[in-house]
Amino acid sequence: MGITTNILPGDCKEVLKAFSDNSIDLIFTSPPYADQRKNTYGGISADKYVQWFLPISGELLRVLKPTGTFILNIKEKVVDGERSTYVMELIIEMRKQGWLWTEEFIWSKKNCYPGKWPNRFRDAWERLLQFNKQKAFAMYQEAVMVPMGNWAKERLKKLSETDKIRDNSKVGSGFGKNISNWLDREKAYPTNVLHLATECSNKNHSAAFPEGLPEWFIRLFTKEGDTVLDPFMGSGTTNLVAQRMNRHSIGIEILPEYCEMVKKQLEPIPLTLFENTDYGTLENREHYAVR
Ligand SMILES: C[S@@+](CC[C@H](N)C(=O)[O-])C[C@H]1O[C@@H](n2cnc3c(N)ncnc32)[C@H](O)[C@@H]1O
Repeated sequence: MGITTNILPGDCKEVLKAFSDNSIDLIFTSPPYADQRKNTYGGISADKYVQWFLPISGELLRVLKPTGTFILNIKEKVVDGERSTYVMELIIEMRKQGWLWTEEFIWSKKNCYPGKWPNRFRDAWERLLQFNKQKAFAMYQEAVMVPMGNWAKERLKKLSETDKIRDNSKVGSGFGKNISNWLDREKAYPTNVLHLATECSNKNHSAAFPEGLPEWFIRLFTKEGDTVLDPFMGSGTTNLVAQRMNRHSIGIEILPEYCEMVKKQLEPIPLTLFENTDYGTLENREHYAVR
């Protein structure tokens, strides 16, 4: 299968306009956070963030397939002793725009650097907000199963009577469990907390996320041959991982130097091979492939 990786320079708000409706399986991205990294690629203030992001999320809603998923990596910072609320405001406005806020995953940063503050502890996690267009979306849960581990041996050794039948919640939440279902299983489904170290290697980008992050979500929400989009590409982590995993991908980046850097890491192939690829009608798009 010929896998394409398209690197598109420009402001994603404009570049996305040329994309076809319902053409993307997974959007995975980490936009600039409010009030951060002004010196590297500019910054949007927290009070203008929602207004800045909504036209972009509107385009993302249009280009995502009905069965697709949008994962937004973001975290509000502390300003003047208080957590900013712009991420929460953004969730509310995106719901009004037509998105379903399906889930929130947590990236727990295993190697968070040490520090001391008078009124709080080290910030060791970021949000990965999951948005969808409809309740039924593509999800390949088996692709991210984890080993049962020793917990199973200890806990399943001494099954109580309620463990052997479905144990309905005593608080009437409607949830229940039958632990005996998990006897003799090698693997379990993971939780919504991902434990990954932050990116330490020099990727020539101040905010690169670890490869394990897009990899996990690409496995969960796509299959080979599907198309992944990162509208705030940076050093191209999402695209490089997608390429390795045999997924088509598109990266949009406003700073040309990052586009050049990512292109050097991809294998160029002749444009004509991909004439029929339906990513819109951009004239300046460039085509790269692995195999
Ligand atoms: C948080 S970084 C992404 C880092 C990326 N996940 C990686 O692993 O390298 C956000 C990127 O979005 C780019 N950017 C900012 N505004 C943009 C816009 N309107 N359209 C496209 N890219 C933009 C910045 O230049 C920056 O490289």
